[in-house]
Amino acid sequence: MMILILFSIIIVLSLVQYVRFQRKMLFAKDLLTVQPCYPVVGNGLLFLGKSGEERFYNLAGVLNNPAKLFKMWLGVYPVICTSDPSMAQKILTNPNCMQKPFIYNFFKLDYGLFGAHYNVWKKQRKHLNPTFNQKILNGFVPIFDRCAQNLVQTLAALPEGESINITDYVNRCTLEMVCATTIGADCNKNPGVNKLMTLIIGIFNLASARILNMHLYWERIYQLTKEYREEQLMRTEAYNYANQILQDAVNCRSKQANRAESDETDDDGYRRPQIFIDQLLELQEANKLEDIEVIHNVYTVIVGGSDTSGTELGYAALVLASYPQIQEKVYKEIVEVFPLEDPVNFTQETLKQLEYTEMFLKECLRLYPIGPHLMREGIAEFELDGMKVPKGMFYLVSIYNMHRNKEVWGPNADKFDPENFTPERSSGRHPFAFLPFSGGNRNCIGSRYAMISMKIILVHLLRNFSLSSNMKLEDLRFEFDALLRTTKEPQIILEQRKFSPLFVS
Ligand code: HEM
Repeated sequence: MMILILFSIIIVLSLVQYVRFQRKMLFAKDLLTVQPCYPVVGNGLLFLGKSGEERFYNLAGVLNNPAKLFKMWLGVYPVICTSDPSMAQKILTNPNCMQKPFIYNFFKLDYGLFGAHYNVWKKQRKHLNPTFNQKILNGFVPIFDRCAQNLVQTLAALPEGESINITDYVNRCTLEMVCATTIGADCNKNPGVNKLMTLIIGIFNLASARILNMHLYWERIYQLTKEYREEQLMRTEAYNYANQILQDAVNCRSKQANRAESDETDDDGYRRPQIFIDQLLELQEANKLEDIEVIHNVYTVIVGGSDTSGTELGYAALVLASYPQIQEKVYKEIVEVFPLEDPVNFTQETLKQLEYTEMFLKECLRLYPIGPHLMREGIAEFELDGMKVPKGMFYLVSIYNMHRNKEVWGPNADKFDPENFTPERSSGRHPFAFLPFSGGNRNCIGSRYAMISMKIILVHLLRNFSLSSNMKLEDLRFEFDALLRTTKEPQIILEQRKFSPLFVS
């Protein structure tokens, strides 16, 4: 009986919402609608009961639409979609479009940069931007170097010729980097960090699955599912670990404050710059941030900063293994800039000289953008392509489809080709045609951090190993998630190079 009443209430509420949004959508009556589309369920049948892989390709399929703007319905919620660079620019740079829609609430990180509501985000972003400025990033380089060296040493100790899941190892390295540089924790000494990471990824997977399960949008309904219970358990455990890490950071800060008074440097012999956690704790002490904002930002930066670059480098490794001539070209450039007989000297200048390596990484980010689909919500009416779009409308920018758009990238858009990023080919291309780190003010705060750290990992990896694989690039199949994930992770065979610095020493 209870279930029947609940079910009837949902149907009535859905119909009310549906009618409300139908009226609101009159402004967009001329826009194409993704099919098949039915009242109340919208385009839900494209995803209902489908595997993660089917969901990804069904979504990418319908978003591969030549129209500049079109619409789809996530249940009763209409969404204006685009994979057109000029429309993406209009949406992502509009100050009234910096809000994330309700589906970001599923991640329950509403007080961290990634999921925060507009006003909270605006205040935080202003304070946190400086923690990723160039001077601070330069200060991180020795840490990136040390972590990348740890990675190659771990890899060198593995039995040679074995096929390994490279993403696991690289993720561990990017986690070590991000913990050291943003929250000042050594994840080798603090096993809680690894556990926290696994829990957060688990929570993210469940939250992502909910995005295309429109019948679970209502919190009350979701609370009846086993996924909710699973998520709650993980969340409680994750909070315990996060609190413990924060406590360590607070202790470390007070130790540092004492040292500063006696003008000492830290264990590594240099004074730690004002990093992300310091800024968060300082703002908390000044009552400018709530405790929950600190915790959510710690969560956000751990996942945002490690799983992203680690997963991307997994794809990059498989590309290198699949195209030996590209691998050779990247390797040659690396040893030219960082000769094997000399210790590596990473500076802003030497890293800048890795021009082909940068083109290679950009091409990886083009075909394998970690954030494949971005969403925004308008907080005021605004004009888009001649239409007056009312307040409260949702927007979806498909980065995955935009990066494979043949109008922008030419007939070989699906082919891996670093030459797409030569200055000649790049000139005249729309500035919003390539958006692996999103665009506008709510873009990725760690984009430069990511590029520097990924380059440093590649340098150490390729100076020491050549990469091959039994897997083909075409075997990579994506599945729906907030991040671009594959059904099977890249498997790589590493062969230590004859003149590798590790081998020589
Ligand atoms: C290959 C590496 C990376 C890629 C491709 C990437 C991509 C992105 C994208 C597309 C967004 C926008 C998400 C959205 O609007 O829904 C984003 C946001 C964010 N990223 Fe990254 N990211 C990477 C690495 C990093 C790193 C290294 C950090 C920090 C150390 C970081 C921290 C963040 C944060 C905090 C946000 C939320 C920003 C805001 O809303 O103000 N990311 N990232």
